[in-house]
Amino acid sequence: MDGPSGSGKSSTSRGVATRLGLRYLDTGAMFRAMTWWMLQQGVDVDDPAAVAARVDAPLMVSGTDPQAPTITVDGTDVAAAIRTQEVTSSVSQVSVVPEVRERLLREQRDIIGSGGIVVEGRDIGTVVAPDADVKVYLTADPEARATRRTAEMAGSTVQATQADLLRRDRIDSGRATAPLTMADDAHHIDTTPYTLDEVIAQVVALVEQALEP
Ligand code: DC
Repeated sequence: MDGPSGSGKSSTSRGVATRLGLRYLDTGAMFRAMTWWMLQQGVDVDDPAAVAARVDAPLMVSGTDPQAPTITVDGTDVAAAIRTQEVTSSVSQVSVVPEVRERLLREQRDIIGSGGIVVEGRDIGTVVAPDADVKVYLTADPEARATRRTAEMAGSTVQATQADLLRRDRIDSGRATAPLTMADDAHHIDTTPYTLDEVIAQVVALVEQALEP
């Protein structure tokens, strides 16, 4: 499940995994956890060489229960800490560093194993799991995305959130390694006119169709 921020990826992925009894992995949380750790350590996140030099140090563990996703760094639960504005505004810079992507790619593939999992991110259908049974690319109007994200974050305005989303889209789509793009064989769903339950139902139908004998 790929797409830009606020397109409905997380809620849809968790809903689909729950309905189908599959595991769930939020790869954005892994990039956020790496960013959180770099900031904690005082690493200059705008210096790719400084980030690359420390990339192997933190131990990160991701839980895959769609109803209770967890993520720890060196044993500390960072599920809430990775959602702060500070992490959100630095995560795209950390995510462009090739060494970060290589490390997390290895860990993502280890967790995916032989499958049975819904994985959300930006490069899942193109790079992480090019052989996935079903690929979905979610989008939504920028205003709808900003409205959803603002509702999740206290103290922000729709305009400020929209500006930040568009800035991150630009960096995520423009980077050299594994940019945000739709895989040729992905199903594109524009979620703007649909409720969450409707989008979940559409994706569940795609999975059932794909797995039909
Ligand atoms: O989905 P999210 O907003 O939590 O993701 C945070 C950032 O992580 C996003 O701006 C880009 C990066 N990311 C990435 O580069 N590749 C992924 N597969 C997932 C996220």
